[in-house]
Amino acid sequence: MLAMEYRGPYRIRTVHKPTPAIEHPHDAIVQVVRSCICGSDLHLYHGLVPDTRVGSTFGHEFIGQVVDVGSEVKSLQVGDRVLVPFNIFCGTCFYCQRELYGNCHATNPESTAAGGIYGYSHTTGGYDGGQAQYVRVPMADVGPTKIPDDLHMEDAVLLTDAVPTGYQAAEMGDIREGDTVVVFGAGPIGLFAAKSAWFMGAGRVIVVDHVPYRLDFASRFAQCETINFLEVKDMAERIKRMTDGLGADVCIDCVGAEAAGNFLQTLTGVKLKLQAGAATVLHWAVNSVRKGGRISIVGVYGPTFNAFPIGNALNKGLTLRMNQASVKRHLPRLIEHIRAGHLRPRDIITHRLPLEEVADAYHLFSSKLDGCIKAVLIPPGADALAWPNGSPT
Ligand SMILES: NC(=O)c1ccc[n+]([C@@H]2O[C@H](COP(=O)([O-])OP(=O)(O)OC[C@H]3O[C@@H](n4cnc5c(N)ncnc54)[C@H](O)[C@@H]3O)[C@@H](O)[C@H]2O)c1
Ligand SMILES: [Zn+2]
Ligand SMILES: [Zn+2]
Repeated sequence: MLAMEYRGPYRIRTVHKPTPAIEHPHDAIVQVVRSCICGSDLHLYHGLVPDTRVGSTFGHEFIGQVVDVGSEVKSLQVGDRVLVPFNIFCGTCFYCQRELYGNCHATNPESTAAGGIYGYSHTTGGYDGGQAQYVRVPMADVGPTKIPDDLHMEDAVLLTDAVPTGYQAAEMGDIREGDTVVVFGAGPIGLFAAKSAWFMGAGRVIVVDHVPYRLDFASRFAQCETINFLEVKDMAERIKRMTDGLGADVCIDCVGAEAAGNFLQTLTGVKLKLQAGAATVLHWAVNSVRKGGRISIVGVYGPTFNAFPIGNALNKGLTLRMNQASVKRHLPRLIEHIRAGHLRPRDIITHRLPLEEVADAYHLFSSKLDGCIKAVLIPPGADALAWPNGSPT
């Protein structure tokens, strides 16, 4: 089969690999119909995630059709169309019982913190991902969700990560009626967090970034105010000026370890790796939120320490929440929002490329070229499959 392959930082290509086969009675094999590139993949692409092995295939946002099932799989059959949450989870451990699927204790032998994730280095289990023609899906009765016929395929693929992550980011902000919510990052996750903030009763939503086309898109897509941080000397001072001197009720970090905007943070966090990523947005959030406010973090940081202003957070009485999203928990509600016309996730897709052009797709997305917000990859043969809603593009 054809698959994306990592060769080292900034070096990827498509190669022919053996097609995955059933390895365990609970596995399924899915033929990929659409996959996306996530902001999280950029951390891998830039060489920031430890134990990203040469030869591995990325991709944790994919939908497809089941082509084989193991002998113990009960709920899926060959031919089923499924969306596959980025989390690999068992459904029965202590955490899964509490719907904390992103923290499953059974799918990542490498860590007691993070659960398994498709195509996301050996730090999350070493599973191959979905930027390929086929992918092995472990615990196939648990993660995959059958795609309803009325759901557009491009909306379905965004439900595997970006939409639920943005939604959970807003949910963890515990937004109350009329709150002012500041979202850092106008990538896919920030866009869906901003949109979700309105669903939860926000009175005002402000999105911060430094890429003008992304800020323009955010103001249209999420009807929000925007701030270009390149035009701001002191972020906290700017937010306070916009909020009667108090600060925002909620700040949401949808940027993570590769934040721009502070030279020292970038030097120590990204270049010299003295901390697990630039903590720029964490500082901005702590300083920009009001006393007693809430901070929600979904932007990804490395596993070791960051220079974090815990003293300010304590003195201000802040509540901090953060996690990998638990995708499956949010799906029923998000599908209802899509059906009701509150949200059309596919509006953020700017690029649709054949899998063979995966290197170009990473370059466009990473370097913010050609207005890129979200790129979708189409494997060879995918459009020959019958699909009730959305094919071909
Ligand atoms: N927790 C989870 O479950 C989860 C899931 C998916 C993605 N993520 C993480 O969410 C983050 C965003 O993902 P994405 O797909 O939207 O990525 P993206 O790279 O498309 O977007 C990030 C945006 O942040 C902007 N940015 C950089 N520095 C900034 C700063 N100081 N202030 C404000 N904006 C700044 C960039 O210009 C970019 O537009 C990544 O860290 C990704 O790893 C987490
Ligand atoms: Zn992701
Ligand atoms: Zn589990």
